[in-house]
Amino acid sequence: MHIAIVGATGLVGREMLAVLNEHRFPFHQLLLSASERSVGTTYDYNGHPFYIHSVTELMEAKPEIALFSAGSEASKKYAPLFAQNGTTVIDNSSAWRMEAGIPLIVPEINASAIEASKIIANPNCSTIQLVMVLAPLHQAFGLKRVVVSTYQAVSGSGMKGIAQLENERQYGDESDERFYAHPIDYNCLPHCDVFLENDYTREEMKIVHESRKILSIPDLKITATAVRVPVLGGHSESVNIELYQHFDVQEVRELLSQMPGVIVLDNPAQNKYPMPIHARGKNEVFVGRIRRDESVENGLNLWIVADNLRKGAATNAVQIALQLMKEQALVIR
Ligand code: A2P
Repeated sequence: MHIAIVGATGLVGREMLAVLNEHRFPFHQLLLSASERSVGTTYDYNGHPFYIHSVTELMEAKPEIALFSAGSEASKKYAPLFAQNGTTVIDNSSAWRMEAGIPLIVPEINASAIEASKIIANPNCSTIQLVMVLAPLHQAFGLKRVVVSTYQAVSGSGMKGIAQLENERQYGDESDERFYAHPIDYNCLPHCDVFLENDYTREEMKIVHESRKILSIPDLKITATAVRVPVLGGHSESVNIELYQHFDVQEVRELLSQMPGVIVLDNPAQNKYPMPIHARGKNEVFVGRIRRDESVENGLNLWIVADNLRKGAATNAVQIALQLMKEQALVIR
């Protein structure tokens, strides 16, 4: 088994390397690439130097699986070329997620949708942690309506988001060359990705469309507000849910604690609830503040936190690769 990472020097690419290593992923060769400016350099991981190849060199090596996290443009250009060459691409960008015939996968929920596609899309980070909680609730009680507000870390914007926050923390808001439209430290920006014609941001609409596709509920009533907050890593979400069927709050806690990959952390009396500082570096999705919304029938409020670079990106992509190996019995060469 040869495996490749395109975008290996980026925040998600590095995390992919770490997660492959932690999962003891059974590959014989790991090939890395990044943009032209990094080609020929080496990237040190755990004391082991990895050479950075060009994307073309990686493609010609015909790896069985390529994990892509180099942005939408690179994915649009290179994923079909890798696929034609026999490689299965697991793409972390938004380039292919909503295309008909491209599976959009969260393995705990819809692994069976992987099929034989040569391009498999990894969902948006905010969507993954949300559907991990919505899926078991839907199965047990039926989802009637979902209202989500996100509190998203700057690492979700890549290196440039982190650089702006760290720069402001060190020097104050002095720079004219901001990545975000406004200062991010001491601030909250109700603005993740670009604004669309309907006045929602692209991030908000990704959550809407991708959740419907993963959960296979094309007409799910769901609306989102996405907010960037001055947190380095870990996205949080406040979620209000209306269910079709009557539920008991303790029953919901038990149901969610049985969902693989979800950890219920819900003990208000001891100030225990999920927070980004605890989720960092973890592969699981944490849920807490589970309580009845007393303003509607069958209403539920809860709070979800996950490491956006882990389950929101790298971990989910590696889990898809493991699933592929299992289902297609990819031969280790
Ligand atoms: P490089 O480090 O050479 O710029 P992030 O989103 O964290 O900024 O990371 C983006 C990743 O995608 C980096 O590894 C970056 O490489 C890589 N990348 C950006 N543009 C391209 C491209 N056109 N082809 C291949 N890799 C790219």
